[in-house]
Amino acid sequence: MSEYDLVDVDETDAPGDEWESLDVADEEADRIARRQDREFLEFRKRIENTEQFKVTDSVFDDATLGALYKLVQDGYVDAFGGPLSTGKEANVYLAQGSEAELAVKIYRINASDFRAMRDYLDGDPRFEGIGSDKKKVVVAWTKKEFANLRRAREAGVRVPTPKAVQRNVLVMEFLGQNSRRARRLSEVNVENPETAYEVVREYMRRLYRAGLIHGDLSEYNVVVHDDQLVVLDLGQAVTIHHPNSRDFLERDCENVAAFFTRQGHDTSAEDLLAYVTDVEPESQGTV
Ligand SMILES: Nc1ncnc2c1ncn2[C@@H]1O[C@H](COP(=O)(O)OP(=O)(O)O)[C@@H](O)[C@H]1O
Ligand SMILES: [Mg+2]
Repeated sequence: MSEYDLVDVDETDAPGDEWESLDVADEEADRIARRQDREFLEFRKRIENTEQFKVTDSVFDDATLGALYKLVQDGYVDAFGGPLSTGKEANVYLAQGSEAELAVKIYRINASDFRAMRDYLDGDPRFEGIGSDKKKVVVAWTKKEFANLRRAREAGVRVPTPKAVQRNVLVMEFLGQNSRRARRLSEVNVENPETAYEVVREYMRRLYRAGLIHGDLSEYNVVVHDDQLVVLDLGQAVTIHHPNSRDFLERDCENVAAFFTRQGHDTSAEDLLAYVTDVEPESQGTV
C-alpha cells in the first residue's frame, strides 16, 4: 500500500530570508536569436521539423528557440521529446538530459491568459518595477516559478527539482517513468486518502512557513511519483505579503479539503487552514 512518504525535512536547508530579485534584462537567448548565426539557424530548422513541436506549437518565437539552443549549449538538455501537457500559458515537454529524463516547461510570450497573471503579480515584491511589457512579465514569471521551486524544496516540500531557467523556459526534474509522466492525484485511485491528506497538509504548512502560498493547489497539481506526492506548478505561487494571499490560501484549502472529502477522508477547509497557519511564518519575504 502506498504510504506517500513525506520527504525528510532534515535533509534540506533552512530557507533564506531574502528574495532574489528577478532579472528580466535581455539575455543570451535574445542575443542568440538576434545574431542568427549558422548554428542557430540549423538548430531552428531541426526543431521546426520535429513532429512534436509542429503539432503543439509551431510558432515558438526566435528568442524562445534561442533559449532552447542555449540550454542545449550549456549541457542541460541533449534532446527534446514529445509534449507532456499543453496548457493555457505553457506547454511542458519531455527532454533528455545527460543523466536523466527532464521536463521542460515553455511559457508562451503571447499567452492567451496573460491578464490572469496580473492578479498574482500585483503586490508581489519581486515584481515591483517590472511594468507590463509582455515579454518581461512572462520572463519574470518563469524565473519566479524557478525561484519558488527552489524555495519550496529548501523548505522540505517535494517538488520537481529545478535545474535551469532561460528566458521563458524552465528545466526541471522529470516525474514519471520510461517517458510516461507521473499521474496526477486526480487520475489515480488514492489508496490511502488519510495519509495522502496529511502529507499535502504538511507541505502546505511548510510552504506557508517559507513565506509562500501555492495559489493553484488541487488534485491536478499534485502527482504521485515513486510512492511520493509531488507538488507541481508553482508559477503563480505568491508570498504571504501579497494582498490576495489569504484568498489564495483559502481557495487552496477549499480545493484540497473538497478533494480528500470526496476520497472518503472527511475534513474541512477551515480545519486545513487552521493547521496550515498555526505557525508564524519564519521568513518575512522581504526584498
Ligand atoms: N516535472 C514534471 N514531470 C512530469 N510531468 C510534469 C512535470 N511538470 C509538469 N508536468 C505535467 O504537465 C502538466 C502541466 O504542468 P503544470 O506545471 O501544472 O502547468 P500548467 O500551468 O499548464 O497547469 C502537469 O499536470 C503534469 O502532468
Ligand atoms: Mg497545472
